[in-house]
Amino acid sequence: MGAPIGIDIALAAALLNDGKLVAIPTETVYGLSANGLNTDAVAAIFAAKNRPTFDPLILHVSSIDQAKSLCSTWPAAASKLAHAFWPGPLTMVLPKADHVPHLVTADNPTVAVRMPNNAMTLALLNQVSFPLAAPSANPFGYVSPTNAQHVLDQLGERIDYILDGGPCAIGIESTIVSISEDDEVTVLRLGGLDIDSISAVLGKSISEVLTTHSNPQAPGQLDQHYAPGSSMIPWDPNGSDAESALLNHPSDEAVGLLWFSHQQAQQWLSLHPAAAAIKTMKHYHLSEDGNDKEAAMNLFGTLRRFDKDQCHKVYFVWAPPAGLGRAINDRLKRASAKGSH
Ligand code: TXA
Ligand code: MG
Repeated sequence: MGAPIGIDIALAAALLNDGKLVAIPTETVYGLSANGLNTDAVAAIFAAKNRPTFDPLILHVSSIDQAKSLCSTWPAAASKLAHAFWPGPLTMVLPKADHVPHLVTADNPTVAVRMPNNAMTLALLNQVSFPLAAPSANPFGYVSPTNAQHVLDQLGERIDYILDGGPCAIGIESTIVSISEDDEVTVLRLGGLDIDSISAVLGKSISEVLTTHSNPQAPGQLDQHYAPGSSMIPWDPNGSDAESALLNHPSDEAVGLLWFSHQQAQQWLSLHPAAAAIKTMKHYHLSEDGNDKEAAMNLFGTLRRFDKDQCHKVYFVWAPPAGLGRAINDRLKRASAKGSH
């Protein structure tokens, strides 16, 4: 049941030419793609995801020239960053060209463009004559998919094909920057490319507009985004009440504990045998010994496992706030901002 999963790039191209929806692998997360210049096809993306139309889409391209054709200007900073990081986990928001549909940009005068670093999807982009509009291939507000099965589980009935490129190598969405006509670069979303690498290429530090507000600059910044079904609760293993928080938990309910590293888990649990003995506790770690890239790659898949385990609550340890740790913490923060439970 559900959309077929396969590696047939020609079939995917034929479906897209026909205005259909195809899930595509990228190095960050799987996207739900359609012809980005066809308003009806783009409308079908919003419908399949239950996504509000105020949340604009990224256009995926196979070359810098194609990206340029979608923008009304191509400032020097865009050129520098594209050459340094494309194909890769960087999305640039730039003044849009007239022919980009308003539905794609949610009526904004800007358009988001990205060249993804996945051989299959680049081959697909080379077989069609248009850019692919693609948000992450999850229902609106849920955790992004990092393999083909994740897409099938949630959107399988609503789409036409899933192109299987295996697990995503980065595992967290692209970093988004906006670039003004006078070369001002601002970070709108933390993601798979760390900010220091971007500053290094530009030769200056860049400002970040990451706060939430009612009309978000990048609606991925909404509170309660990326939320799994479980209620996520920050937990500090070094806090004085760390152990008692876990021991107080009702014994008939599965509870999750998300460690940043396996090493950290082993050390703490060896010092806290009572907590280690809690039978209903599901332990998962994001990395073996604290590597931020490994942790990012495992983040969303691990959150899905807690859901499968039917953990009502998941205690989680923050990542060290360096490299991709900042983006990981951003997603954890939003997952824990769910509020109601
Ligand atoms: O890694 C990624 O970026 C993945 C893969 C599939 O490429 N895509 C992704 O798309 O995360 P999505 O739709 O889940 O998040 C893209 C975000 C939107 O929520 C919106 O905040 C921002 O990009 N965005 C798109 N167009 C924009 C614009 N014109 N101005 C400001 N933000 C924009
Ligand atoms: Mg998304």
